[in-house]
Amino acid sequence: MTRAGPDAGELVLDLKALVNVRDPFPLYHWLREHDPVHWSEQLSAWAITRYADVLQVFADPIRFSSDRFRKIDSKYTSARPAVKTVSEILAQWFVFRDPPDHDRIRGLLQRFFSPHALEQSRGRIQAAIDGLLDSVAERGEMDFISAVAFPLPAVVIAMLLGAPQTDLESIKHWSDRLAAYLGGSVDEGDNFTEASAGVSNLVDYFQALLRERDQTPRDDLMTWMLRAEHDGARLSREEVVANCVLLLFAGHETTTNLLGNGLFHLLRHPDQLELLRADPGLILNGVEELLRYDGPVPATLKVATEDVEWHGRAIRRGDMVAPFTASANRDPRQFTDPDALDVRRRAERHLAFAWGLHFCLGAWLARLEAGLTFATLLRRLPALSLTSPTPEWKPMIFLRGLESLPITWRSQPA
Ligand code: HEM
Repeated sequence: MTRAGPDAGELVLDLKALVNVRDPFPLYHWLREHDPVHWSEQLSAWAITRYADVLQVFADPIRFSSDRFRKIDSKYTSARPAVKTVSEILAQWFVFRDPPDHDRIRGLLQRFFSPHALEQSRGRIQAAIDGLLDSVAERGEMDFISAVAFPLPAVVIAMLLGAPQTDLESIKHWSDRLAAYLGGSVDEGDNFTEASAGVSNLVDYFQALLRERDQTPRDDLMTWMLRAEHDGARLSREEVVANCVLLLFAGHETTTNLLGNGLFHLLRHPDQLELLRADPGLILNGVEELLRYDGPVPATLKVATEDVEWHGRAIRRGDMVAPFTASANRDPRQFTDPDALDVRRRAERHLAFAWGLHFCLGAWLARLEAGLTFATLLRRLPALSLTSPTPEWKPMIFLRGLESLPITWRSQPA
């Protein structure tokens, strides 16, 4: 177990600093060893960085509530209209609710996202991947993010929800505006105004589609949400709309980043890529390791519902608490040689999808998309390599992904 790490003097202790956005792992290392419950002025939150502690936050949803848009301390809130528009919708997302509302809404959707139900979509997902690769295979080069990693999850979640594929460009635009806020953008821009505009557009969009479903039900997730009942309690229309926006949002940016971060690290570790090429049976295990090694959601946010003394720090009721899953996943107390990428490692106890009550609903979908994509890339594109060894990371804290990922391969004559 290697504990020696960087000196504080060599580090910028600001989680939002661009140097830490590019490579947060040395700072995580320092925090785990020296300040595991760290007050971050820049995030206005306590950063929790050890595996056991992050797990404890997820395991105690009463003390560390997800209902941050309603239970949040007044010092974080604002009466600005833009803030209210965003908060009112986000407060209906079941990821930001505690039981019993959380369980009622999640219970309705769970069946749709089970491995068994998703098997029915495998063929359509594979066809979408092949379609995207068909259009670039002969070129021998592409930006993997814009050509595959972005469109694929958007196509898939829109397909499951029942949103027309022709609307994807608009959906991306609105969703990106929300991502800048929820992803914890480090830019100085007005994230609330941006997010508010994005949310309003998405709400109007889904309201119109739901009115169509009222008239003509279809075999899709939107119709299912309208009809479904759980313990006799239907969703309200506001909840349906808000949770359509949630699924759309949660279902694409994250998976885009799993595909992008994953391929980037595989190409930086050709020995690991070769292991997967030689034994495609290892790919799903490799996906878990990539999630552990550099996952798309480095941290989430909870709100403390009572005072907590922890590692010598005093968390106060109403304070924001950020469990850093990306740091937990590199904790040597939990994983041997955690900074090594090892696709043969049994990484299943990683926390990239969180844990417990709010464990990612779309985990199986993300795994399916990533497994099929990596398998198809390895089968169809020989001699894959990176064009640039240092691509740019998006300037965000709570989401982690690449702006672009230029790659080349040996193209086959048609
Ligand atoms: C690699 C891709 C993904 C990652 C890393 C990821 C990560 C996460 C994390 C960390 C949470 C917990 C959030 C919290 O506790 O605050 C979560 C929840 C959630 N995720 Fe994902 N996610 C991914 C893909 C997806 C997809 C494809 C969907 C599609 C529908 C999805 C839907 C959700 C939903 C609905 C929740 C809320 C679950 C609940 O509160 O019970 N996610 N995800």
